[in-house]
Amino acid sequence: MKIDAFFGEGPGAQAQDGCSVEVYRSSPYAGDIEHLSEYLEPGTSVLELGCGTGRVTRRLLSMGCVVTAVDNSDEMLAYAPTEAKLVLADIEQLDLGEKFDVVMLGSGLINHPKPEVRSAFLGAAAKHLGANGIFILQRQDPAWLSTAAVGPAGEANGLAVRVETVSRTNGLVAMTLRYDRGGESWLHSFTLAEVDETMLELQIGSAGFDSVEWLDTRRCWIKAGFPRAG
Ligand SMILES: C[S@@+](CC[C@H](N)C(=O)[O-])C[C@H]1O[C@@H](n2cnc3c(N)ncnc32)[C@H](O)[C@@H]1O
Repeated sequence: MKIDAFFGEGPGAQAQDGCSVEVYRSSPYAGDIEHLSEYLEPGTSVLELGCGTGRVTRRLLSMGCVVTAVDNSDEMLAYAPTEAKLVLADIEQLDLGEKFDVVMLGSGLINHPKPEVRSAFLGAAAKHLGANGIFILQRQDPAWLSTAAVGPAGEANGLAVRVETVSRTNGLVAMTLRYDRGGESWLHSFTLAEVDETMLELQIGSAGFDSVEWLDTRRCWIKAGFPRAG
């Protein structure tokens, strides 16, 4: 299986990971982080990694958080809210010289097919988290990754999603999704690793975090921090 296969096509620009700017720009916030509100009190400084067009960034700002939002697509960032500090950068190389109360790595970025990239993402999170800070991570839904089959995969706000192709080899899932809306369509091809719980907890530990806690019943969201002195 070809690794690192990220590709997108359709109207408008696509990010390096194949995500369509138009699809994300027109996708509303869907309650993604409501269950995290206890960690996101007004005044909390948040580093959001992979913010896209700012779907989640806007909600963080409305909660009163002070947000720095990072993405490596300037076309995505062009739609992100300017009330956040917007940073055009690869997460892997990020070095802002600043620490945050919360570092958030969402959208299943941790399912990147290359282990060294996953480690670099976790390293960037560790580098920017304050001593008493909270690292919040979201992996792709493992049940979906292991069962998704060719055919319709849902519809929301006029955007229909269909699995066009899917293949699974050695813990990697290669998939092409098709998005259709109002006569326009996009294709997004990607390869993701099926990161199981043990593997993820070990990798988080190697980045220096401990106190790993799963935050949802589907076991997609994790909270971690640094070991406390004493
Ligand atoms: C699936 S989109 C999600 C965007 C946003 N988090 C949301 O939920 O709407 C993933 C975003 O991460 C960005 N991204 C992927 N890999 C990245 C990397 N290595 N460094 C910086 N940004 C990255 C992409 O450009 C894209 O905007």
